[in-house]
Amino acid sequence: MAVTRIFQVLFFLQSVALLAYIIHWSRNCDSCVILKTAMINQATGNVYSKATNVPFASTERGQLSNCTLYDILQRPGVVMLTTTNLGFLDMTMNMLASVRRVGICVNTTIIAEDKKVYKYLHKKAEGDPAVHVVMTNSGLMQSGEVKRKNARTYFDLLKKRQGYVFSLLEQGFEVLFTDSDTFWFRDPFRYFQGDFDMSMMDTNSPYPTRTSRAHYCAGFSYMKPTIVTLMFVKEWIRSLKGKQIMDQIVMNKLLQADKPVHVNIKPLDIKLFPPGPTFYEFLAKNTSYSAVVMHAASIRGHDEKVQKFKSSNMWLVNASSDELVAREQGLYGNNSLSELIIF
Ligand SMILES: *[C@@H]1O[C@H](CO)[C@@H](O)[C@H](O)[C@H]1NC(C)=O
Ligand SMILES: *[C@@H]1O[C@H](CO)[C@@H](O)[C@H](O)[C@H]1NC(C)=O
Ligand SMILES: *[C@@H]1O[C@H](CO)[C@@H](O)[C@H](O)[C@H]1NC(C)=O
Ligand SMILES: *[C@@H]1O[C@H](CO)[C@@H](O)[C@H](O)[C@H]1NC(C)=O
Ligand SMILES: *[C@@H]1O[C@H](CO)[C@@H](O)[C@H](O)[C@H]1NC(C)=O
Repeated sequence: MAVTRIFQVLFFLQSVALLAYIIHWSRNCDSCVILKTAMINQATGNVYSKATNVPFASTERGQLSNCTLYDILQRPGVVMLTTTNLGFLDMTMNMLASVRRVGICVNTTIIAEDKKVYKYLHKKAEGDPAVHVVMTNSGLMQSGEVKRKNARTYFDLLKKRQGYVFSLLEQGFEVLFTDSDTFWFRDPFRYFQGDFDMSMMDTNSPYPTRTSRAHYCAGFSYMKPTIVTLMFVKEWIRSLKGKQIMDQIVMNKLLQADKPVHVNIKPLDIKLFPPGPTFYEFLAKNTSYSAVVMHAASIRGHDEKVQKFKSSNMWLVNASSDELVAREQGLYGNNSLSELIIF
């Protein structure tokens, strides 16, 4: 008993000393938040959420993520980034539900492109240690679906994502950028091990070779904050300025030409990270479930994507975007998330 007590006291003193040390050492260091949080957590048993200043225990689970702060801290320095607007809210909720269903916990940042979607997601993410919802800093967009045939707005929307990625890379985070029309079956993070700058799926080259015909998909890409990645993303942003062109085309041109530098790309296996049509081809042959993450790219249009997801039991959200928002506002009298999401 006495011995246990002594250990407890020693442990407490050690925690306090470490905490003092870390606070001193990291006074000017923003990216040390993780460490600080972890230490405060260890010393006091609880923490304060930076966003809300509401205390929550490290074992408390987020409503959107079903993750605890402890879970999030197991994957330090990594941010999953996605963007959405009201038109794609249901799609985003579906993706988050798929991530949650397989128990993946990662520090997630959702950029809201309009006020309605911000309000909805921000409320849902309240007290969720895994999910940060932020308002766009590069101009509000329309909240309805941005159709591909509305090229100007569509390209403008796509062009914003490099800026978000860049600012996280600059802070030293590894960034997994994911479009909201993805469905996660398994944890993709173990495929991002090793030495590389960026990791993406190439629809043209035979895996794992990189050929001169390579065409990478930017909608699901893992980027490490290397000097090369930073230089590349900066040039990508510069090349897109004032142009009405699909960001992915520009990205591939630059990669092809090694401009401004050669980027070391780790290819993702198309069998494990299939685009929509490939996935459904596999599915028809009963081989689909080797997929880690499916990306409904090249299935055009919101409703077509939803239809396709539904056809394969991959639609986990029990409401349209408008219904979600309406329920949140209490119009349907039922607010519980379990009702909105089928698990
Ligand atoms: C999570 O990501 C945000 C960036 O959106 C960052 O500010 C924050 O420090 C990260 N938190 C942890 C625990 O890594
Ligand atoms: C949340 O996660 C815990 C721990 O993994 C699990 O036991 C529980 O069933 C999950 N709850 C939901 C609603 O997914
Ligand atoms: C796929 O599997 C199901 C049941 O496991 C079976 O009924 C069906 O015939 C299979 N389809 C093909 C193309 O093998
Ligand atoms: C809300 O949904 C929950 C879960 O489905 C259900 O148990 C409850 O009765 C519903 N409440 C109202 C007021 O409809
Ligand atoms: C989904 O919504 C419909 C209609 O609102 C309701 O009848 C059904 O019970 C819901 N399903 C789940 C699993 O919540």
